[in-house]
Amino acid sequence: PFDKITYLNVGNPQDLGQKPITFNREVLASCLTDDPERNRMIYSADAVDRADFYLSNINNRAAGAYSDSPGIDIIVKEVKSFIEKRDDVEVGEDNIFLTEGANEGITLMMRLLIREKSDGIMIPIPQYPIYSALTTKYNGSQVPYYLDENKGWGMSYEELERSYNEATDRGVNVRALVVINPGNPTGHVLTQKDLNKVIQFAHDKQILVLADEVYQRNIYVDKEFCSVRKTLSELGSPYNDHVELASFHS
Ligand SMILES: Cc1ncc(COP(=O)(O)O)c(C=O)c1O
Repeated sequence: PFDKITYLNVGNPQDLGQKPITFNREVLASCLTDDPERNRMIYSADAVDRADFYLSNINNRAAGAYSDSPGIDIIVKEVKSFIEKRDDVEVGEDNIFLTEGANEGITLMMRLLIREKSDGIMIPIPQYPIYSALTTKYNGSQVPYYLDENKGWGMSYEELERSYNEATDRGVNVRALVVINPGNPTGHVLTQKDLNKVIQFAHDKQILVLADEVYQRNIYVDKEFCSVRKTLSELGSPYNDHVELASFHS
């Protein structure tokens, strides 16, 4: 039905000429060289100051040294306060794990979840393809659930049920439900009401929620982003104590 295809190059904006955020690069470069005098001649003052703040919180100002596995402590603290401010919840530092981008976090979780062929991961269709790729790579079972184009690519509880039942009928042990919000490639933003249903579903089926929220700042419709974390805490007991959640952001 289409006369032409517009190449949007999903998830790769710099390839289309979008300029990267300079600040992050300057902070990183300043951390790695740790020569404030020289850096001040090249980079913006706020980037060099930020680098100095990080380095003064790292042992021996050694940004290249191995850190604890969950990441450099001062950055973990910044992530904690970001989530607390965003969601108005209390966050334990032990629940934060820094990775090299969201993909590494997703990969760690998928490796953890898939033990054998019968372990299934519920994946939205259409989706950001790492989920199907990793399910195949780790030799698990894909359990597709279809987003509804007529609802702007939203999800429905009935479709989740259909997909889950179809999988269990073929002997699959469903372990997790992937929710990409805002959606890639659809741009759909789930409401808190939608998320309540997702959480109820995960609770009923006792499966983990993998919430891919990397596009939380990229919203092009008149809706507000609400995290699964916030939805869980607002739903309260028994959901907040029982539903397991891993959220990804980068
Ligand atoms: C939905 C979604 N999740 C995760 C990622 C990967 O994020 P990162 O580049 O931080 O690894 C992408 C990148 O395109 C994405 O579209």
